[in-house]
Formats: sequence, C-alpha cells, structure tokens
Amino acid sequence: MPNGSTNESNSPHLILVGLPGSGKSTIGRRVARRLARPFIDFDSEIERREGKSIAQIFSEVGEPGFRELELALTRELAKTGGMVLAPGGGWTTIPGAAALLHPPARMIYLRVKAEVAIGRILRGRRIRPLLQTANPLDTLKTLLAEREAGYLEADHVIDVEVVKSQQLIATIARLALP
Ligand code: S3P
Repeated sequence: MPNGSTNESNSPHLILVGLPGSGKSTIGRRVARRLARPFIDFDSEIERREGKSIAQIFSEVGEPGFRELELALTRELAKTGGMVLAPGGGWTTIPGAAALLHPPARMIYLRVKAEVAIGRILRGRRIRPLLQTANPLDTLKTLLAEREAGYLEADHVIDVEVVKSQQLIATIARLALP
C-alpha cells in the first residue's frame, strides 16, 4: 500500500462508493492520477495482502471474514489521508466502517442503475461471489435496495450514466479540492 506520505497526506481521503459495476476502480484510478494522489482499490489491496482472489477469500472465510478484512484495511487508512479510495460495493454495509473515514473524507456515490451495472459486470472478468446466483440482475437490485441508504450518506451523488467519463473524472477531481 502506498504509505500516503505525499504532500497531500494531511488532506482528507476521497472515497468512491457504489454498486459493483459503477466504475469505482476505473474512475478512481484515473482521478488519482489526475490529482497525483495514491489510489487504493480495496479488493486489489486485500487480494495482494492475502495472496488470494476475492472469490477464494469468500469461499474460505465467507462474507463475514471478507468484511473483517475490509474493516481492518479501513482502520489502517483512517490513520492516513490524501488518497483516492475505492472500497468494494458492500463496504458501506459494515457497521462503523464508513464512520472511521467520513468525515473528514469526502465521499462520492457513483450512482448507476442495476441494469447498467450488471451488463458491465458480466462483460468483465472479475468474479463477484455475491452475484453467483440464478438471476444476478435480481440479486443486484436487491443489494441496491438494501444499500442505497448507505450510499446516499455520501457528500455528492453523481449519475454516472449521464456523463462522459472525461467529465466524470474532472468533476470528481474538482470535488476533492479544498
Ligand atoms: C462486493 C463487491 C466487490 C467485492 C466483493 C463484494 C459487494 O467489489 O468487494 O465481491 O458486496 O458488492 P466491487 O464493488 O468493486 O465489485
């Protein structure tokens, strides 16, 4: 993990939340590059640390074990600042996790319809264990209904379907500035 010892480390983190398939990782990486800040994708960081894929972690320790790993990473990040963070889509459901960072972090909800997100997910290669169901779209709709209140705790909501990614990145980068 980058140690956060950049000039920006005293500034708050910027956190992108939203469903799987909302673009948190792709957009987050590009926003971080534009702002010259470290970027942490929670899933990639957890996979790197554990030496296992997210799917393997779920099959070995289940969702509760995975949430513990997310919470542990969050606790560490609470001691740093100035990064762009992309936690997994279920992070806001972990009791107390978001509150460890936000405030002072700025939280942005990348809002996307389940129908659009599922298309992106199915076109990609990453396995989302929670969506290995007979009807992934229905499952994602249920997850969205359960999670939306948590996502809406964000300081800003951006409907990602209606803006081009260049504009999205510029908008988010602006929201990160003091
Ligand atoms: C999850 C989303 C995934 C990953 C894990 C659980 C979820 O991250 O953390 O499969 O609960 O929605 P992405 O949102 O980056 O796909």
